[in-house]
Amino acid sequence: MKMLAPLAGKHNVTDFEALRQTFEWSQMERDFSWFHTGKLNAAYEAIDRHAENPAKADQLALIFQDGQTEEKWTFTQLKERSNQAANMLKSLGAAKGDRVFLFMPRCPDFYASFFGILKIGAVAGPLFEAFMEQAVEDRLKDSGASILITTAELLQRVNRDNLPELKEVIVLECETDGVHDYTELMDQASTEFEPVWLDKEDGMLLHYTSGSTGKPKGVYHAHRAMIQHYATGKWILDLQEDDVYWCTADPGWVTGTSYGIFGPWLNGATNVIAGGRFTPEAWYKIIEKHKVTVWYTAPTALRKLAAAGDEVAHSHDLSSLRHVLSVGEPLNPEIIYWAEEVYGKRIHDTWWMTETGAMLIVNHPTLSIKPGAMGKPIPGVEAAIIDDAGNVLPAHTSGNLAVKAGWPSMMKTIWGNQEKFDSYFINGWYVSGDSAKMDEEGYFWFEGRLDDVINTSGKLVGPFEVESKLIEHYAVTEAAVIGKPDEERGEIIKAFITLDKGHKDSMELREEIRQFIKKGLSAHAAPREIEIVTSIPKTRSGKIMRRLLRAKELGLPLGDTSTLEE
Ligand code: WTA
Repeated sequence: MKMLAPLAGKHNVTDFEALRQTFEWSQMERDFSWFHTGKLNAAYEAIDRHAENPAKADQLALIFQDGQTEEKWTFTQLKERSNQAANMLKSLGAAKGDRVFLFMPRCPDFYASFFGILKIGAVAGPLFEAFMEQAVEDRLKDSGASILITTAELLQRVNRDNLPELKEVIVLECETDGVHDYTELMDQASTEFEPVWLDKEDGMLLHYTSGSTGKPKGVYHAHRAMIQHYATGKWILDLQEDDVYWCTADPGWVTGTSYGIFGPWLNGATNVIAGGRFTPEAWYKIIEKHKVTVWYTAPTALRKLAAAGDEVAHSHDLSSLRHVLSVGEPLNPEIIYWAEEVYGKRIHDTWWMTETGAMLIVNHPTLSIKPGAMGKPIPGVEAAIIDDAGNVLPAHTSGNLAVKAGWPSMMKTIWGNQEKFDSYFINGWYVSGDSAKMDEEGYFWFEGRLDDVINTSGKLVGPFEVESKLIEHYAVTEAAVIGKPDEERGEIIKAFITLDKGHKDSMELREEIRQFIKKGLSAHAAPREIEIVTSIPKTRSGKIMRRLLRAKELGLPLGDTSTLEE
């Protein structure tokens, strides 16, 4: 096993192992102004606090780049713009605890609105811009969102007839009747606003994530999550005040909020926000042009960059890069070796989940990297491999990757489903749904998911959500959906369907069904492969046996088939 030496240079934490031995979360609270003033709001800590500091007020908080469009806001501008958003929302009657959703492409006003929501004590619900009608409706309905901020184009995917709780809609580039014009309301709104002061336990953020059963669930995070966003931004992203940081994730996913918003801004870094389509050239240009120093991205993107060839990388000046990190999927060792050769930087893997709110297992810059391992638990976090009864297993044994409850960014609950929340825990351990091993040095090695959730290009897709949509298609009677290993995307989605009488298999029909999912749910949830079968394997109680389909597809042993219906 080749071990890679720690990252050179000065770091915020010089002795990671020592900190892991002694650290307690209460020590971190002293770094926040609310610890001293008693006035708590994560938006204040991330933005206003810097705007009120003469040394930082005029520093760039945000650099937005979308194709040729570039926009830069200082901490003061972001503070004032988010105050306007807070006043706008207040004028429409929004109040503490309300769910206010954002459905728009990445743009500076997304961030102004996001902090405006937090400043009035409401809960922000960011929706991925590629979601289509059903995906949008499921999330807005489940959350009981009362206000939506969106664009004229995306508004077409919002079926307001099915959303009685949605009272107000605010639209950017507004040309629609019966909704509010964002620009008009913002122009009228004052740039002064005193944030609503909250408790650490008050709700802040709602992110929907996929499970193996049922529709996506609302993972509900509280303001206390900021403690860990700040800590990991400082320790693991290793952010310094003059860093130019770029997180490539969309704020519709948890990485795009925890580390596209809180991690960098709580640490006072300049945050690059890039819209537009992914191309290797466009991405390298962003690093080169804005002199990005810390870069947080994902294995699928890195695999695409590697596939584009070393020449593309070499034709850009990437020398500003100091520290590169990855999350969301297994990071294959080949990519680490490739990056070391081509970027002169190795990639630091991090493991966490929507539910955990922030990084838990990481390759700290001062830790030697074992390519293929996710690293070690951060200070203040205890992780272990446990069996289904909650017993801790010895090193080198496969089992449930679990974390001792009690870290600050742990979700507060599953929205409207306390029972589901409770089901995550055994004996005080949070059970992740991932299978892993720990080695004798305490490094954790990812093995796979233990449920049927599919991880395609770092995006989790619940098979139930896709199956439910598939059977809405007129030609489909039954459907089962699995993840199939794929070199570039990690997994792709494969659907098995039975056809209604009178319909025959054809390339056209399969493409039509694929488009039906693409237009109804989202492009990333659309099956890349569709196979027509005569029946779907089910248990006697009627549950789809996806495990069996997967085993068959991959040529693996079928395992226990005793519950299979005749
Ligand atoms: C997977 C993303 C391997 C894992 C922040 C987890 C990973 C799920 C890694 C959460 C990693 C995340 N190596 N697999 N470093 N990081 N995963 O909720 O299966 O979108 O449970 O949160 O992604 O995905 P989620």
